[in-house]
Amino acid sequence: MAEMTLKIGGHAFKNPVFTASGTFGYGDEYEDIFDPALLGAVCSKGLTRFPREGNAPPRLMETPAGLLNSVGLQNMGIEPFICEKVPQLIEKGISVIANIAGHSTEEFAEMASLCNESPGILAVELNVSCPNVKEGGMAFGIRRQSVSEITGACRKALQKPLIVKLSPNVTDITEMAEAALESGADALTVANTLLGMAIDVEKRAPAIHNVFAGLSGPAVKPVALRMVYQVKKAFPHAVILASGGIVSTRDALEFFMAGASGIQIGTGLFRTPDLPLRIIRGLEEFCDENGMRTVSGLTGLAIKEMS
Ligand SMILES: Cc1cc2nc3c(=O)[nH]c(=O)nc-3n(C[C@H](O)[C@H](O)[C@H](O)COP(=O)(O)O)c2cc1C
Repeated sequence: MAEMTLKIGGHAFKNPVFTASGTFGYGDEYEDIFDPALLGAVCSKGLTRFPREGNAPPRLMETPAGLLNSVGLQNMGIEPFICEKVPQLIEKGISVIANIAGHSTEEFAEMASLCNESPGILAVELNVSCPNVKEGGMAFGIRRQSVSEITGACRKALQKPLIVKLSPNVTDITEMAEAALESGADALTVANTLLGMAIDVEKRAPAIHNVFAGLSGPAVKPVALRMVYQVKKAFPHAVILASGGIVSTRDALEFFMAGASGIQIGTGLFRTPDLPLRIIRGLEEFCDENGMRTVSGLTGLAIKEMS
């Protein structure tokens, strides 16, 4: 059987298949369907400093091959997550990555530092797609300077592996990747949802209460795949977690071959709740059938000049 571990900043995750933030609850909601301890890790729902109710409905809408969401970071807040939820998850053997979203650089750093005190949190993922309150609500992740600042501040505050989840809503993803890597990120998640919208023709109004929403699912896969390829080609040593439209082992294989070292499964869970397990088995089988001793051997195989 192929070796499946994935190392990020000194921590070895048991396999490279994670669930994506916001699509798998806090980590144990799916346990009637499969044992979440079998996953490489669970990325928590996006956590904020204080509890949030999220945006008003309608905030979810299916599109051809995709999903629009504008949940607006509804969550219990980081302290209840650390004090109440993480101890339960540790007991169940679930590997937890805390996905955090701050309103300012200082708030990001404060939350990162709170994670140091929770042994069950194995790594922190920064959601830089959230709005920067001090800069009029513009997403942090679309400015190189903000990505550098948040990553640098969290790197100083955190004594655990640090993952930066990039926004795809930029002209040049490699610029943001460089900013995060230079400022101390151990890995990059490529990428969050693409900004989109829908119109309710009968109401002559936007279909989503918040007007704009994040597009995910198979519709975004070619875009996410292109970004993974670009980032890996520009930074061959970067550890990339691919996120965007993965719904089959074949999709996962494409992302590995484009340069990913691990994958995150999100929207695909809503149609096939045990999808991560199927993909873990599918990757093991592919490696065995192709005489590969490690899943990491797949990374970047399709990159021209690298293979
Ligand atoms: C309903 C929903 C909620 C999400 N919430 C978050 C979140 O809180 N934090 C975050 O970083 N990403 C969030 N995402 C983005 C996903 O983690 C993932 O990066 C994105 O959906 C692309 O992957 P997919 O096509 O496999 O879903 C959310 C996505 C969906 C569909």
